[in-house]
Amino acid sequence: MHPRTSTGSDVLVVGGGIIGLVTAWRAAQRGLRTTVVDPDPGGGAAQVAAGMLAAVTELHYGEETLLGLNLASARRYPDFVAELQEATGQDVGHRACGTLAVALDSDDRAHLRELHALQRRCGLESEWLTGRDCRRLEPMLAPGVRGGLRVDGDHQIDPRRLAAALVTACERAGVVLLRGWAERLTVVRDRATGVVLSDGGELTADQIVLAAGSLSGRLAGVPDDVLPPVRPVKGQVLRLSVPPAYAPFLSRTVRAVVRGSHVYLVPRENGELVVGATSEELGWDTTVTAGGVYELLRDAHELVPGITELPLTETRAGLRPGSPDNAPLLGATTLPGLHLATGHYRNGVLLTPVTGDVMGALLATGVLPEEAAAFTPHRFDRVREEQPA
Ligand code: GLY
Repeated sequence: MHPRTSTGSDVLVVGGGIIGLVTAWRAAQRGLRTTVVDPDPGGGAAQVAAGMLAAVTELHYGEETLLGLNLASARRYPDFVAELQEATGQDVGHRACGTLAVALDSDDRAHLRELHALQRRCGLESEWLTGRDCRRLEPMLAPGVRGGLRVDGDHQIDPRRLAAALVTACERAGVVLLRGWAERLTVVRDRATGVVLSDGGELTADQIVLAAGSLSGRLAGVPDDVLPPVRPVKGQVLRLSVPPAYAPFLSRTVRAVVRGSHVYLVPRENGELVVGATSEELGWDTTVTAGGVYELLRDAHELVPGITELPLTETRAGLRPGSPDNAPLLGATTLPGLHLATGHYRNGVLLTPVTGDVMGALLATGVLPEEAAAFTPHRFDRVREEQPA
């Protein structure tokens, strides 16, 4: 096969996961000729993620700025889903089911009480429930549950369906999906001008968006001081299926921190039950381990003992694109022509609508909307300058 060479896109997106695809879709809707390069568009971390839209239950100390972006994206979800479903005719499994975060012992309960206080200080809606109230809502919960937080605004979507719909939306909007590996960024006279593919082909564009998830820090040719500080954080996830005779097994997402590890159970309308997730700093390793599966099942079983009756249908590991402050990098770099949309860490699915909107606006107008101003790559410039050479 001859190397593929193409010139003349307005926008070239490197990476066809949900962040790259939503960026491309929004750019194309604004009239920009857009190409996405990825060996498997619609693949990536979305094939593993559970799809919780958990702005409130995944709140962490020190992440109040990120909370603002997470909430902005959560508010957009209903309209975003309606638009995407209208554009594609594909259902994306959005379920406004709410979330229940529960405590199994007094340590968990203290942790959850602190989370509740933080949520209230941030003006978020969540309600403290006794263990009995939790079990009234979700009868499959273990009798030992000591209390919980009911958060009716934290919903879910099926990330695999979301990715598939974004592929269709891009195709229908005229985005060129080029199946290949971008091996090296081309820089001409201090400006990013395209990429060289692994088959030797070349693509050029006026603007390039690096949206390659955990791989974003590895594109050759990107100057060291521009390379995003993104690292892979492994998550192992299980999928089970709830036979009709057991339904409804759970009616909402149930989660907890068990012995310091997060575990969550996300029940889909189609009977799939997703159990996640480990969080491991092991580089590029995506092995599913006996230990990972054991810990997830052990913790999930403590929460919902009946889970051991369900067929286990899939085990898989993916890589979250972690950033130094757990927030995404959105916007222009110091290399003219090169933008970033990466580093979404635990919130890639949640942040998909707002990422599409701000990146689309940036690519069409040259101005990053104010709501993303705190998330530009420039916030790491000083840290880099201070690092010893
Ligand atoms: N947001 C869920 C996770 O990263 O595991």
